[in-house]
Amino acid sequence: MKKVTNNWHWPALIAHRGAGTLAPENTLAALRAGHDAGYRMVEFDVRLTRDAVPVLFHDDTLQRTSNGTGNVDDCTLEQLQALDFGAWHSPLFAGEGIPTLEAVAAYTQANQIHCNIEIKSSSARQYESGRVIAHAVSELWNGVATPPLVSSFSRTVLEAVRDTTPELPRALLLDTPLPTGWKHRLDELGCMGINLNDRHISHAVVDEILAAGHTLVAWTVNSPVRARTLLDWGCHAVVTDAIDQINPADTAGQAKRSPSPR
Ligand code: G3P
Ligand code: MG
Repeated sequence: MKKVTNNWHWPALIAHRGAGTLAPENTLAALRAGHDAGYRMVEFDVRLTRDAVPVLFHDDTLQRTSNGTGNVDDCTLEQLQALDFGAWHSPLFAGEGIPTLEAVAAYTQANQIHCNIEIKSSSARQYESGRVIAHAVSELWNGVATPPLVSSFSRTVLEAVRDTTPELPRALLLDTPLPTGWKHRLDELGCMGINLNDRHISHAVVDEILAAGHTLVAWTVNSPVRARTLLDWGCHAVVTDAIDQINPADTAGQAKRSPSPR
């Protein structure tokens, strides 16, 4: 896999959890909904089954988005494949299964969809999750011109990704104001940038991150006006649930423009 610099190589609009409001989040149905709406980049959450298979799933536990109960960590892939991950959303999606990362790699590459892979993990499995999922991403996207962007809230996960696949582009996810020493943290982890909760983003924050030569992705931005403002300020991309309100055709190329002056 070729080395990726701190330049943004991906689209400016990213569908959150697939298109996880129009269809059940983190399923192939959600990826199809995003693609049908014109999205060419998708964010999704990946974690390990008990038998260490990477699958798309957000929570530690099954009950919110499936008909199962208990911890994902305690279930093998075979056990998860017996559950329904669509009926909780709406009857239309009853019978939707849990996708493996392998199936999603095949689907996204066949449809020219870029990926932001967020690694989730229980606290006990962070290093293992980073290592196994990084290795899988490297294998599954081998030879692809623009590799997935890997992100995580967990420093331990990002350390494992760095140690396993240093060439894989990665970003630090933050749900807090920009902490003191953030540049040092990115350097330590070899991250190209920050994926920051929109509630902590101002024009000054965008300027600070871009001036340091890092990338900035805002999440989760559901107002079309706010999305346009963030891209005008120079944010490289926004992650959104508002698939039916924010049209990628309207914002195409925005991230390539020079940031607007303050
Ligand atoms: O990657 C941005 C966003 O997905 C982080 O929050 O909880 O939706 O995974 P969450
Ligand atoms: Mg996520």
